[in-house]
Amino acid sequence: MPSILGIESTCDETAAAVVEDGVRVRSNIVATQTALHAKYRGVVPEIASRAHLENINPVIEESLSAAGASWDRIDAIAVAHRPGLIGSLLIGVTAAKTLAWCIGKPLIGVDHVHAHLYSVRLQSGIDPPMPAVGLVCSGGHTALYRLNSMLDAELVGTTLDDAVGEAYDKVSAILGLGYPGGPILDGLAPRGDPSSIRFPRALLDHDSLDFSFSGLKTAVLYHVRGRQGRERTVAELSQQQISDVAAAFQAACVDVLCEKIRRAVERFGARCVIIGGGVSANRGLRQAMEKFPVPVFFPPLEFCTDNAAMIAGLADLLLAAGRTSELDLDAITYSQWTA
Ligand code: KG4
Ligand code: ZN
Repeated sequence: MPSILGIESTCDETAAAVVEDGVRVRSNIVATQTALHAKYRGVVPEIASRAHLENINPVIEESLSAAGASWDRIDAIAVAHRPGLIGSLLIGVTAAKTLAWCIGKPLIGVDHVHAHLYSVRLQSGIDPPMPAVGLVCSGGHTALYRLNSMLDAELVGTTLDDAVGEAYDKVSAILGLGYPGGPILDGLAPRGDPSSIRFPRALLDHDSLDFSFSGLKTAVLYHVRGRQGRERTVAELSQQQISDVAAAFQAACVDVLCEKIRRAVERFGARCVIIGGGVSANRGLRQAMEKFPVPVFFPPLEFCTDNAAMIAGLADLLLAAGRTSELDLDAITYSQWTA
C-alpha cells in the first residue's frame, strides 16, 4: 500500500498531497495565488515563482500533518516536472529532489497534463474502460488524447492558439468581470440566452482534432466594443446583455469541445471519455455530456483545477510500472523538465 507525497508547482498553485494506493487522498493542500495575479488578469511568471518559494515548505509540512503521516511512512516523492513555467517548476522540482535524497526514497517525475486525466480515479478508484478519449481543458491546455491505458496516452489534438480556459479568462476581462473568468462566466451563463448571439465555432469544417479559441475571443471583443474596438464600452451593456454574452460564449466553447470529442470517439472506437483540467468543472460542459453515447468520467470538483493529489496518484501507477527514472536525482539540468 504505497503512500506517495505529490508536489505541484507548474503554474500558480503551490500544492502538496499524500495519496495511498494511488486513490485514497489522505491530504490535499493547495495554496492558490489567484489574489496575487488577479489585478494582472493572468499569471505573472516572476510573481508566481516567488510565491512558490514562500509557500512550498509550509504546504508540504501541512500535507504531511493533515495526512497524519511521518516521513518514514512516505514511500516515494512525486513532482510535476513538465510542462510549466520554468521558474515555478524550479521550486517544486528542487524541493522534491531534496526530499527524495534526504529520505532515500524514489523520485518520480509526472507530466502535469497527463495527471489531469488521472484525476478521474481519485477517491473513487474507477477504472475507465479502454480505449478511451481524454480531454484536458484548462487555463494552459486544450489537449485531446487517445488512451490505451491510464499510462499510455497519445496526443491527437491540441489548441493552435489560446487554451479554452484562457479564452474564458480573457472574455471575462473584456466584460469587465473578475479572474479567473471560468467560474464567473459559468455562473452567469444560465441567466443568459445562448442563442441571442451566434459566435463562431472554429475548425469544425474539416477533419482535424485540433482546436482554436482566439477567433472566438476576438468575436466577443468586437461584439462588446464594436469592430474598431472603440465604438462602445462594456459599461453600456445591461446585466442581461452581459449574461447573454456569457451564455453564447459558453455555448460556442461547449459545442466545439463536444464535437471534437465525438469525432475522436468515433475515429478511435473509444469505450469512454475522460475529461480533466480546470474547465472540466464547467456546468455547461458537464450538462452537455450527460447524454453522450459512451460513459463520460469527470474528476470530483476539488480535483478539476491544479492539485498535487493527481500528481501522487499518477506516480503510483508509474512506480508500479517501474517508471521512476524520468527525473534524474543527480542531474541539475532544465532540459529534462521541460522536454
Ligand atoms: O487546471 P487549472 O487549474 O490550471 C491549468 O493547468 O491551466 O485551470 C484553470 C483554468 C482557468 O482558466 C479557469 O478560468 C478555468 O480553469 N475554470 C473554468 C471553470 N473553473 C475553472 N472554466 C470554465 N468553467 C468553470 N467552471
Ligand atoms: Zn493544470
